[in-house]
Amino acid sequence: MKHILVTGGTGFIGSHTVLELLNQNYRVTAIDNLSNSKLEPLKRVEKISGKRAQFRKIDLLDIKALDDLFASTNFDSVIHFAGLKAVGESVEHPLRYYKNNISGTVNLCEVMSKAGVKNIVFSSSATVYGDPEISPIIEESPLQAVNPYGRTKLTIEYILQELYHADDAWNVSLLRYFNPVGAHESGEIGEDPNGIPNNLMPYITQVAIGKLQELSIFGGDYPTHDGTAIRDYIHVCDLADGHIKALENLDNNPGVAIYNLGTGKGSSVLDVVKAFEKANKLKIPYNITTRREGDAAICYANVTKANNNLNWKTNRNLENMCRDAWNWQQKNPDGYP
Ligand code: UD1
Repeated sequence: MKHILVTGGTGFIGSHTVLELLNQNYRVTAIDNLSNSKLEPLKRVEKISGKRAQFRKIDLLDIKALDDLFASTNFDSVIHFAGLKAVGESVEHPLRYYKNNISGTVNLCEVMSKAGVKNIVFSSSATVYGDPEISPIIEESPLQAVNPYGRTKLTIEYILQELYHADDAWNVSLLRYFNPVGAHESGEIGEDPNGIPNNLMPYITQVAIGKLQELSIFGGDYPTHDGTAIRDYIHVCDLADGHIKALENLDNNPGVAIYNLGTGKGSSVLDVVKAFEKANKLKIPYNITTRREGDAAICYANVTKANNNLNWKTNRNLENMCRDAWNWQQKNPDGYP
């Protein structure tokens, strides 16, 4: 049985991936510093799967703790999610982002190298395409960092590629996610933002449950079919499945591989609002306001490479994403206890 280390294993995408790994009979150790998450999701994962992931509260900046972990456990591969992810906060506190995300990853890679564990799947983001000129976006499209958060993702991509160039025993998979939303269909695990959500779907679910009054739609004058900005929303369970496929692929296709993980389908903000209303039979009050600084008009993926090379495709549509996000919100009105 292969043993996988999942950094950031209590987070939104991390916890859904831990669940999928356990379902597919991997042994899992999750680490997290719990700065932005709780232990509860792993308890829920155990409840759903009947299997338990080991957990250690470890900060990637604590290299001694990482060293001890790798000295006491034989891991086959690492899936690396741990990192800060709020764009606005990264602009206000760039050093916090460079230290946590970049230094944390350097520590992780150093310890992995020392232990001879050289298989890594990295949680990158479509943010590395900056403000894309053309969609659908292919993996070879131009890269650009437009804020410190984006720069940390891009820098880590370069670090991992350079590691491979220096030592071809490394196998690296860089997964560029588009917009992960939804929740496990059980409603036991889902997205638990701190405070007022920045992202669209959790904002909508909090309006639906009455915690927030109305949705502000940022911009109604984009060059799109209804004037609102277009994104590629992907169900978090499809995304988790993509990680398992990328992990399996490290063995068959050594070296560095880069994949877009999205649905390949663009939806506008209004498309999402309408889909949410239809799927859940309720109304979302909204108001169209000015554009949010730094937002691209249109951003969706070409996912041919992941479809072909990873033998992966998404199975859940926007309706499923809206239904599952709402189910999670209703079952957990205040998030995890
Ligand atoms: C955002 C980040 C991106 C990050 C991703 C992670 C920014 C500028 N980008 O992507 O770097 O990788 O989250 O999940 O923060 N919207 C509204 N009203 C709201 C919230 C959002 O209209 O209250 C709109 C946005 O303008 C955008 C779309 O909904 O057009 C999606 O927004 P969001 O969920 O924040 O994701 P991104 O901005 O695409």
